[in-house]
Amino acid sequence: MRRRAVLGAGALTGALALAGCSGADSGDASGPARLSVSGAYMPQPVSADMAAGFLTITNKGGTRDELTAVTSDVAGRVTLHSTTGGAMTEKSSFAVPAHGRLVFASGGNHLMFERLKRAPKQGQTVSVKLTFAESGPLTVEMPVRSATYHPPTGH
Ligand code: CU
Repeated sequence: MRRRAVLGAGALTGALALAGCSGADSGDASGPARLSVSGAYMPQPVSADMAAGFLTITNKGGTRDELTAVTSDVAGRVTLHSTTGGAMTEKSSFAVPAHGRLVFASGGNHLMFERLKRAPKQGQTVSVKLTFAESGPLTVEMPVRSATYHPPTGH
């Protein structure tokens, strides 16, 4: 008797999950990660071989994801850094929470473009490919702003 009850509950859960998948494009509480990128920019680098990059990754899905790698046409290597108390630490990945955001912003988390192949200039764009643990890769055309640029919203 007990076993039969457990099986019944499992079947019901499956039916609910299927209904969730066929639902509307918003308000999906348990669906896969749905990622988009906004506010990307690179301040024109003052250094000849290194540049920083900032962007926001928004997850409208109900499952967390993880940014695991970044590559770019202008850099031999792109690393992920967090900043705590003025000191920066290289990290191998950053979580993108369900129904949440991963923010790279001046003074905080940032992308570090190392071994630059050319000097990005204000007005140009830099192609950046983001790789995630679960979702497919996202490619962003990151505009190069002035060296002292700060986004209009935020701090
Ligand atoms: Cu750094």
